[in-house]
Amino acid sequence: MATGIRIEQIAQYVDQEVTIQGWLYSRTDKGRLQFLQVRDGTGIVQVVAFKKGLAPEVFDQAQSVTQESSIVVSGTVRADSRAPGYPGGYEIGLSDMRVVQMAEEYPITPKEHGVDFLMEHRHLWLRSTRQWAILRVRATIIKAIRNWLDDQGFLLVDTPLLTPAACEGTTTLFETDYFGSPAYLSQSGQLYNEATIGAFGKTYCFGPAFRAEKSKTRRHVMELWMVEPEAAYVQLDECMDIEEQLVSHIVQTVLQERRMELEILERDLSRLEAITPPFPRLTYDRAVELINDLGQDQDVSIEWGEDFGAPQETLLGEQYEKPVFVHHYPTAVKAFYMAQEPDRPEVCRSVDLIASEGFGEIIGGGERSGDPAFLEQQIDVHKLPKDAYRWYLELRQYGGVPHSGFGLGIERTVCWICNLPHIREAIAFPRMLGRMYP
Ligand code: 4AD
Ligand code: MG
Repeated sequence: MATGIRIEQIAQYVDQEVTIQGWLYSRTDKGRLQFLQVRDGTGIVQVVAFKKGLAPEVFDQAQSVTQESSIVVSGTVRADSRAPGYPGGYEIGLSDMRVVQMAEEYPITPKEHGVDFLMEHRHLWLRSTRQWAILRVRATIIKAIRNWLDDQGFLLVDTPLLTPAACEGTTTLFETDYFGSPAYLSQSGQLYNEATIGAFGKTYCFGPAFRAEKSKTRRHVMELWMVEPEAAYVQLDECMDIEEQLVSHIVQTVLQERRMELEILERDLSRLEAITPPFPRLTYDRAVELINDLGQDQDVSIEWGEDFGAPQETLLGEQYEKPVFVHHYPTAVKAFYMAQEPDRPEVCRSVDLIASEGFGEIIGGGERSGDPAFLEQQIDVHKLPKDAYRWYLELRQYGGVPHSGFGLGIERTVCWICNLPHIREAIAFPRMLGRMYP
């Protein structure tokens, strides 16, 4: 007898006696027949308890076990195309079961719950099929990113989370105490990556980043996960090449490995199948014209020099089947480190990737300035503490090279690929404005 098999492998066990260690997802009572939907973290399988042929105490348990009780069930696997579940198509004829812990009345029931209630019970909500599917897609996105970067010769180098200065502006810093001096939770590992490429050529960091975003939106979390590749001898165009290949690889991998989860989420797969290189590339100048042509509406129109907000990004993203690059933003609206365009210093070699279907910016990045005098001036303009960036400027003195990089936000990418209306579902325990529990 096989013990402790995982439901995702059930197809290998047809006509065999197996044991599943899991939880009761739901039950349908048909008198002498009990249909138990049992989940084990890898799937859901229908377990059928038939009164005839079962020890009375076993059938009683099958009939009385409560939602989300932890149970160990044994029985024979049958192939049956009508059987519900994930993957579905198999059921188990119960022969024995043990209740490990009989659950108290479970707070999350099939009826509709409000978002606040669900967020308050996030530790349990994660067990629901939709949340389960989303987080399995997320894990595959992360695996696809790492595999692709490793295969392309980017070396993983971990960057610090406690930092002495800002990378992405001083307004979203979380401050903490570092033995009497202020320290900040990292907004991005980029500045350190610019050092590590001097040692390794192509690197990436992958970790949490912190942004004290003081507004409530559908697209912002305070603690996000970001992958940040950086490469020496790479200029803006090649940076976009790398981004479109990485993003296409992520989407195609999810399509291959997580089709069932995408179907649970009712994702339009044809929209994802279309995500292959190349992606359209627009200058900021052109994007502003396009927005003003399309969005006669006052809220969306924009003047040259302004940064895009959610309405502009949504409008742009909806124009294309694929994500769209917008490059050469005004120098004044972007971070201090962006390379100026030599013939047009009012714009910089920055690029954002805006997802299709109105999901907004998923990547920010570009080519970094190699000019220490310009950077010093920018550090002043952005009111940053000069001393903390001494090492960063030194990188330009010892073998500076053209280089570029970008940061891809995992939660935004999950929202786009899974078609989520709100970022709170894209991470297991989101940190939102006004919520730190659970
Ligand atoms: O555009 P951002 O701020 O770029 C940087 O941090 C660069 N230093 C990255 C680099 O070049 N190495 O952030 C990059 C991405 C955004 O496009 C978005 O996907 C995500 O990180 N992001 C957030 N996602 C959710 N909530 C927030 N508060 C986010 N802030 C950034
Ligand atoms: Mg950005």
